Amino acid sequence: MNAETEHPSYPHRHLLGIEGLSPLEITALLDRSEAYVDQNRQTDKKQSLLRGRTIINLFFENSTRTRTSFELAGKRLSGDVINMSVSTSSIKKGETLIDTAMTLNAMHPDVLVVRHPESGAVKLLSEKVNCAVINGGDGSHEHPTQALLDALTIRRRRGTLQGLSVAICGDILHSRVARSNIHLLNTMGARVRLIAPATLIPPGVERLGVEVFHNMEEGLRDCDIVMMLRLQQERMHGSFFPSVREYFAFFGLDYAKLANAKADALIMHPGPMNRGVEIDAEVADDFGRSVIREQVEMGVAVRMACLEILTENLDRPAQRNL
Ligand code: NCD
Repeated sequence: MNAETEHPSYPHRHLLGIEGLSPLEITALLDRSEAYVDQNRQTDKKQSLLRGRTIINLFFENSTRTRTSFELAGKRLSGDVINMSVSTSSIKKGETLIDTAMTLNAMHPDVLVVRHPESGAVKLLSEKVNCAVINGGDGSHEHPTQALLDALTIRRRRGTLQGLSVAICGDILHSRVARSNIHLLNTMGARVRLIAPATLIPPGVERLGVEVFHNMEEGLRDCDIVMMLRLQQERMHGSFFPSVREYFAFFGLDYAKLANAKADALIMHPGPMNRGVEIDAEVADDFGRSVIREQVEMGVAVRMACLEILTENLDRPAQRNL
């Protein structure tokens, strides 16, 4: 037995969130992802590591890129991947979610990738099944693989996350991407600034060790990374800003505001993008600076690594249920 077999560098059964993971655990996931970046650029992208394994993508919310990315990741490792899209409108949550989990559990999947509109639903489901569970986004809580792919993108461009100033801008209140990124970046020694109108900042967020700004010019000053977020209007019940036009004028990323960041600052966005709402189309397509497409590429590598590590762990006796 080698050291990795006895003391795995990611000793958890699930990947439910970034909160609570150690720097070493995050680094282990990123290092493993790194190897897949090259493989995904080859003509033959296939490996047989997940042969015989079944992965179910259980999506209670719409998704294009995350679902496709997990599907590709599973297939490139030779797993059998099943996609299930469940519309929540017809579902009474709670019991039905557990019923669905129990039904799927009876089919002996190895990994369930779950996206759900309610924060905490994925953890609840993970407590009822025998397989590994990956959180593909739960409400406004966490989206761990997005934060990992963002981190991989940054680490490959900058060599490290340590000491970087990262500005996360826009609809922080509704964003699971922001929450997972705050945990990951803080844990890895980056400095996080949040920039948004007061209505789109979760109350008490300073407790997470971030600096809050309500002005793009100030918040972006000398930062290394500019991470834009989609205005998640489908989650807004009520009025959070006067109009999209005004929002773009104050908080939309254009070249004038970007001039406050470092000259080589990277521009990121998890997608889907609303051009002209949170980001100017030209800035988004400025491939000298925008790494938005690279983020999508890194997503497949990260998900391959997560599937590999979690299925390895399934064969180990004791794991912590994180
Ligand atoms: C994000 C999500 O679903 O949380 N998208 C994604 O996974 N790429 C962000 C968003 O929907 O704005």
